[in-house]
Amino acid sequence: MPIELASVAELAEAYAARHPQEILAFAIQEYSPHLAVSFSGAEDVVLIDMAVKLCREGPLARESFRVFSLDTGRLHAETYRFLDKVREHYEIPIEVFFPQPEAVEKLVREKGLFSFYRDGHQECCGIRKVEPLKRALRTLDAWVTGQRRDQSPWTRAEVPVIQTDPTFSSSDRELIKFNPLANWTSQQVWEYIRENDVPYNPLHERGYVSIGCEPCTRPVVPGQHEREGRWWWEDVNKKECGLHSGNGK
Ligand code: ADX
Ligand code: SF4
Repeated sequence: MPIELASVAELAEAYAARHPQEILAFAIQEYSPHLAVSFSGAEDVVLIDMAVKLCREGPLARESFRVFSLDTGRLHAETYRFLDKVREHYEIPIEVFFPQPEAVEKLVREKGLFSFYRDGHQECCGIRKVEPLKRALRTLDAWVTGQRRDQSPWTRAEVPVIQTDPTFSSSDRELIKFNPLANWTSQQVWEYIRENDVPYNPLHERGYVSIGCEPCTRPVVPGQHEREGRWWWEDVNKKECGLHSGNGK
């Protein structure tokens, strides 16, 4: 049963110090089957590992969560292979959403394949990520993301573990957004991956920390913040592609 919206902020506070798996368990219990993990093909794989364990070793039924991924058409070959590896490793379906072909064709015909370097990434992300995300969210009451506060001191410093989605809720439809990893550091995520033998994207072994689309992601050097490897030609405050554009509002 959906939670009382008035209590979302209270719940966020109550769950802020809880383990991500507990937050995930709460999310699944409250919202299954209208809940899905939004999986980018990066270290957010820990959410899948935790959810699978809750369903196979814990109290929840096996099919009680869904996973979707937005295939922009521009992901690294390694990420595509990794998405499939995760599907096979955990024996779970991954619902893949593609952009509208007409919209991509129009953009590429008019502006070429790399317009984001010139015009900024919002237009391309709007077509390749945000519109497919809206379709993915249409059937859901809640979604789960791998956002963390330490991923971006500029835009994610305030991300709560539970919130009413500030971008995709509408006057007639409130959407709940769970960010179970919000208060975990990158180090905690990687400790979890190592301790639990979680498969990971091999790009992480080549200096890539935050992973998005291939033309818009590059490795970072020691001392550089992970977000500097994304849309590096743009202002740090503008590095949200639309999936999480409500951050900071
Ligand atoms: S982004 O907005 O800058 O691209 P980021 O890569 O930091 O986001 O990932 C944060 C979270 O957004 C991920 O853990 C995931 O939940 C969601 N996300 C980002 N990209 C995708 C994608 N291609 N498919 C599904 N979810 C995604
Ligand atoms: Fe397009 Fe880059 Fe956004 Fe991917 S990250 S959708 S290639 S602008």
